[in-house]
Amino acid sequence: MSYAGLNGKVALVTGAARGIGAATCRRLTEEGCKVVAVDVLVDELAQTCAAMPGEVAPIVADVAREEDCDRMVADAVARFGALDLFVNNAGVIGPRLPITEMPVEEFDRVHAVNIRGAFMALRAALRQMQAQGRGGAVVNVASVGGLSAQPFSCAYGSSKRAIIGLSGTAAQENGQHGIRVNAVCPGAVDTPMLAPAMSRAGDAGQAFKGVPIARAADPSEIAAFIAYLLSDEASFQTGGVYPVDGGRTI
Ligand SMILES: NC(=O)c1ccc[n+]([C@@H]2O[C@H](COP(=O)([O-])OP(=O)(O)OC[C@H]3O[C@@H](n4cnc5c(N)ncnc54)[C@H](O)[C@@H]3O)[C@@H](O)[C@H]2O)c1
Repeated sequence: MSYAGLNGKVALVTGAARGIGAATCRRLTEEGCKVVAVDVLVDELAQTCAAMPGEVAPIVADVAREEDCDRMVADAVARFGALDLFVNNAGVIGPRLPITEMPVEEFDRVHAVNIRGAFMALRAALRQMQAQGRGGAVVNVASVGGLSAQPFSCAYGSSKRAIIGLSGTAAQENGQHGIRVNAVCPGAVDTPMLAPAMSRAGDAGQAFKGVPIARAADPSEIAAFIAYLLSDEASFQTGGVYPVDGGRTI
């Protein structure tokens, strides 16, 4: 497992304490990256980072706060001297309610992290990469929920569709800077975020009916694709929107 061009790069991953973010930190450290792991969960982040095989610096920051987004990038540069790779992964799912029952506060809370926060984090990372003038790569973590409509998911689904739009705009604006920007759309992934949905579904056979690979992904399977997109082996891929979903969206 070794993708070209990752060894020695500096990567920042948000939502890194658990789930897909933690798996991505692990994969990138295995690839020889120096990783800055960002999360709001202080203790869990420290534990996750302590268990990593390579060089990882934990930074506690809330991507819903503009000053935190700017600080996490500044801290990454102070620690490792640059920022080459950015994984815009932090997200929350919000309540499972029909539109008619969704409180505005809950809608806003999901959007504050999943799209407003993702925008502020992306902006801070792109400013740094552009100033360095040596290119870079970004992966925005969207969802199959941003590709196809799902009931009771108005806040989450709309935020994930929005991040696909944000990702495309960023790709358009940054090709000239040698910065590639892609979006991945995971299907069901076995993380703490998915646990309530799985326990609601009860029978896994029912939950994955019609999905060619009829199971949830391990977070490492999403991390592997993110690592590929960040690597030089994906050197002609930008502006892409990639389902990593066991075939759910075919
Ligand atoms: N698990 C799935 O089935 C699935 C499917 C599609 C997309 N996704 C997306 O993948 C990403 C990671 O999800 P996951 O399943 O690993 O979730 P998770 O809940 O297991 O982990 C998300 C991490 O993000 C952190 N986080 C949340 N808000 C934050 C904030 N404001 N600032 C910094 N960190 C914050 C959490 O503390 C947590 O550690 C999310 O964007 C999610 O929407 C997940």
